[in-house]
Amino acid sequence: MSDASPTPRLRDLPLAERAAALGLSAEAISVLQQGLLLEQADRMIENVIGLYSLPLGVAQHFVVNGRALRGVPMVIEEASVVAACSYAAKLARAGGGFQAGSSAPIMVGQIQVLEVPDPERAQQRLAAQHAALLNWLNQENPSTRSPHTRAVAITSRTLDGTPSMLIVELHYDCGDAMGANVINTACEALAPRVAAITGGRVNLRILSNLSDQRTAWARCVVPAWLLADDAGVAQAAAQHIVEASLFAERDPYRAATHNKGIMNGIDAVAIATGNDWRAIEAGAHAFAARSGRYTALATWRQNAEGDLEGHIELPLAVGIVGGATRVHPVAQVALQLLEVRTARELAEIMACVGLAQNFAAIRALAMEGIQQGHMSLHARQIAIAAGAKGAQVEQIAAQLVAERNVRIERARQLLASLEDG
Ligand code: MEV
Repeated sequence: MSDASPTPRLRDLPLAERAAALGLSAEAISVLQQGLLLEQADRMIENVIGLYSLPLGVAQHFVVNGRALRGVPMVIEEASVVAACSYAAKLARAGGGFQAGSSAPIMVGQIQVLEVPDPERAQQRLAAQHAALLNWLNQENPSTRSPHTRAVAITSRTLDGTPSMLIVELHYDCGDAMGANVINTACEALAPRVAAITGGRVNLRILSNLSDQRTAWARCVVPAWLLADDAGVAQAAAQHIVEASLFAERDPYRAATHNKGIMNGIDAVAIATGNDWRAIEAGAHAFAARSGRYTALATWRQNAEGDLEGHIELPLAVGIVGGATRVHPVAQVALQLLEVRTARELAEIMACVGLAQNFAAIRALAMEGIQQGHMSLHARQIAIAAGAKGAQVEQIAAQLVAERNVRIERARQLLASLEDG
């Protein structure tokens, strides 16, 4: 593992020098300066009248599975996110970097079938045709046959209620594509066959954004001694970060905000790389509620050494081919910068970014409490040093903290006015 970021700290460089410092080519730099062209935008959506720009920043210090990344491109309008992400990645680097992994890129498409005369028998007939249907999708049908993607299974289940429904689910290996187009095409192609086999009427044919078979995960260790100069404060900080994690794990109101912080990072990379961040958001929150209770996507614990161990897992349906990833010139530069060869690698980096972002957010929130506590303690000592006695100590200390001015001269002034009054 390389122990240093391969580029200088971007914040120390003038704006004009940053992209070149990352090793981007002159052509890539000119794409970054130009951005999306109006004519390109006009081919992406309907009724285009202009362009809407957002800042593209680069988070640094990420080491993922032993590889020091040149930088992680992030498109976001919120200040501090890129800096916080870089800071967290730097602390995690000191703990050995991020270890990340991902499952095969399997996504599910759903075919809703109604008015099925005998659902049980329909399911048996579908199971009997399983190999033939897969073969038709993968070999025989021109609109679904592809060297890059592949139908891997067809399952079905019934949904009770009125009307009852049979849901046929097509499991697809999407390769390096996000998969929405591939799966929607396959569901549409398969639907008439499903109707014929089941004897029912097909209604919806669409992918599911709860891509819980296509997840990415990451782990890291943040050495506790890095959290503060003072060992006692560092240990308190580590403990408060674990308490913050437990709060989000147990309470959906806090979990929503905890997860929002995670998505600050993940969405920013999704946008930079031309991925569908709404699909990622939908999948992430549905996954967070998979037990029936909405909970935290990332968790933190102290290990035997007192260091913080973080873990995250979430669905990450992202692609490096097709869609806006291919059309948007800046997305292409973002992918060049990341040097990813597969969609899975991109998903793994995004999981690391989510974990880093979460750490930075809860660290800041937890440290604020600690700093506040320390300030109160300090303010009491200053009030006593200024000559305050009894109830005056609390009164003056509270005022010093409220004014964020914990100084002996101010404490003396406050004491004098208390004594005068
Ligand atoms: C703000 O955009 C995100 C945070 O609220 C996340 C959190 O509370 O964990 C800071």
